[in-house]
Amino acid sequence: MKNALITGATSGIGAAFARKLGKEGYNLYITGRREEIIEKLAQEIREKHNVAVEVIIADFTIPSEVDFLLEKIVSVDIEFLVNNVGFGHEKRFLDDTYENQRKMIEAHIESFSKITHLVARKMKNMKKGQIINVSSLAAFTPASFNHLYSSTKSFVITFSEALYIELLPLGINIQALCPGFTKSDFHRSLDIKEKTFKNRGLVRWMSSEEVVRLSLKAIGKTGGIYIPGLSNKILYTIIKLLPRKLYYIMARHMEM
Ligand SMILES: NC(=O)c1ccc[n+]([C@@H]2O[C@H](COP(=O)([O-])OP(=O)(O)OC[C@H]3O[C@@H](n4cnc5c(N)ncnc54)[C@H](OP(=O)(O)O)[C@@H]3O)[C@@H](O)[C@H]2O)c1
Repeated sequence: MKNALITGATSGIGAAFARKLGKEGYNLYITGRREEIIEKLAQEIREKHNVAVEVIIADFTIPSEVDFLLEKIVSVDIEFLVNNVGFGHEKRFLDDTYENQRKMIEAHIESFSKITHLVARKMKNMKKGQIINVSSLAAFTPASFNHLYSSTKSFVITFSEALYIELLPLGINIQALCPGFTKSDFHRSLDIKEKTFKNRGLVRWMSSEEVVRLSLKAIGKTGGIYIPGLSNKILYTIIKLLPRKLYYIMARHMEM
């Protein structure tokens, strides 16, 4: 039986990955903090697809809880890893305590790297595996409200590309998935109201299911950075081509 680990599978993109990979016959290890919701999802997938689903409750800002997760999977051959845990800022960097801001580094960099180290080493020995690391289009759009979000997501991309370069000859594919605005619990948990989930110009909201469908379709073909959706691809290209000085001026007017 093949096994997949999906972190942050309670809602949104992670839950959509869990449903899809369950449907593809993977036994799942899924993580989250909202126990009741994730247990309900696990039960739904078990009943629909007749696969084993193990729920591991772990807060990725607390190292001992991530170590507990690693203990659970240390003897399991994970063939598909989705590093998806992520959250946004409630306060701007300079308006918050460093201790609070540091939690994002712990979750998006420390916990992410620790899990990848364990799982990717095993994949290297097995000479097979797939990894999807969920970054964000925000990695390319630093702004005054997202210092650590943009920069930790940028870390995820650079790290994934290095791993992709190393492991591709072994047939192990790595994707740095960079969604744009996606309907999930991400913005709700920051108290951003649903009415702001509106399409404006090139800002096109995608469903989590569509992001996952495109990501899985792409991983069969290519690795490295993957941007789902045409308008997100256009936005990415514009940002890349824009002279940096012009970007800084525009970014001063960006608000969240
Ligand atoms: N939504 C967007 O517009 C968007 C755009 C680009 C990239 N992304 C990225 O996509 C990924 C998934 O987000 P989403 O949009 O699907 O949002 P979501 O619905 O809020 O899902 C986030 C997942 O991460 C888990 N999580 C959050 N904080 C955690 C913590 N401290 N410890 C452990 N687990 C934690 C949540 O589970 P619990 O709440 O149960 O802990 C949930 O399962 C994130 O990495 C996010 O940065 C989102």
